[in-house]
Formats: sequence, structure tokens, C-alpha cells
Amino acid sequence: MSINIAIDGPAGAGKSTIAKMVSAELGYIYVDTGALYRTIALFIKENNISDENIPTEIKKADVSLKFVDGTQKVFLGDRDVSGFIRTPEISMEASRTSAMPVVREYLFDTQQKIARENNVIMDGRDIGTVVLPNADVKIFLTATPEERANRRYKELAEKPNCPCYEEILSDIIERDHNDMNRSVAPLKQADDAVLVDTTYLTLQQSANEIIRIINEKTGR
Ligand code: DC
Repeated sequence: MSINIAIDGPAGAGKSTIAKMVSAELGYIYVDTGALYRTIALFIKENNISDENIPTEIKKADVSLKFVDGTQKVFLGDRDVSGFIRTPEISMEASRTSAMPVVREYLFDTQQKIARENNVIMDGRDIGTVVLPNADVKIFLTATPEERANRRYKELAEKPNCPCYEEILSDIIERDHNDMNRSVAPLKQADDAVLVDTTYLTLQQSANEIIRIINEKTGR
């Protein structure tokens, strides 16, 4: 049977970077489920699909994941769209459309199938609560909104037209609010998840702490 590790938490808590470090160390596949929601958002934007047409049009999306040299790529049909899903516009559209039950249902099977067939570290918002309720280990990774905005600001600082800190912080607060207050699969800590607050931890310290928890829970 495959081993499944669920990591949930708000945007900017360091989930993807830390989950990548942990999966490289343990030899598991890292699955970034946010990229799937972003890919659907891109599909909806590119095709100008109105909300009422999403239930019928989403069936044509043909979203898939492929792993190239251990790195996850997202595809719409046979087009690799991994380079187009990280814009602020797609972040907001993904946050908005991921609240729709039809979008979540569409991606549910894709996520469960990967976890059934592989040892995975899967990150998202509802992995421990909805997608993999029987995961071997569940982590809820968080940090204060200010610290998350600060990290994002440093990441973007070298790029042209970088948004200011206040703009990034208000985006984070808005997305947290959307993700935590939607009626379907809201972001919340599973009862049996271990809370890891990374506000005062480096990436390496956070990864070490998660590896320690995984080893303890799986008896490695
Ligand atoms: O992790 P991320 O920021 O790339 O995710 C983009 C959006 O997708 C985020 O606003 C919430 C949503 N999402 C979700 O609802 N459920 C998941 N399992 C992963 C992401």
C-alpha cells in the first residue's frame, strides 16, 4: 500500500518549497494540488467561460499532471501550461473558482488516483480533511499573514512591476478569507493533523520538523 502524507495550510506558508524538500529526502512524489486549481482557472479565463457554463465546459478541460525529472508539470490537453499559472490574476481566479463544488468534484478523482498509486506528499487546502481523510500523516502548515506577505515580497522584489508589501498582504488576507469561508471543503486543520507554525522557522528547520513527525508517525 502506498504511503500518503497530507500537507494543508494557507497560501504562502511555505508548503510547496518545504514539501519538495521533504519529498526529495524521503523519495516520495510531491503533488501540488493548487497547480490543478490554477490550471482550471487558466482554462476558464482563456476560454472566457461564464460561471453558469462552467459545469458543462469543465468537462472539456482535460487537465493532467506529469512528472518530468521528478518535477510536476500541469497540462491542458497536450499543452504544458506550468509557466502560465502563477500570475496574481490566476491566483485570484483559482481562489474564486475553487469554491465551486463542480470544480472540486472534477479534480477529486485525479488527486485520489495519484495517491493510490504512489507514495505521495500532497499539498493543498483540503487534503487531510476531504481528499485523503485516511492519510498516514497530516500536517497543517501555517505562518502569520505578515510573515507570509514578507516572504512573498522578498521573492518578488527583484522582478519588474513588483507589487508593494501592503498589496501583497491584502491579497493574502483576501485569499485566506475566501479559502477558509467557502462552504465546500474550506481550509481548516483536520482533527488529527499536527500543526507546524513556520513563522520563526527557516525552510530547513521546517522541513526537518516535518520529517521528524513523518518518521515518528510511520515508524521509519
Ligand atoms: O496553493 P495555491 O495558492 O497554488 O492554490 C491556488 C488556489 O487553489 C487557492 O486559492 C486555493 C485553491 N486550492 C484549493 O481550494 N484546494 C486545494 N487542495 C489546493 C488549492
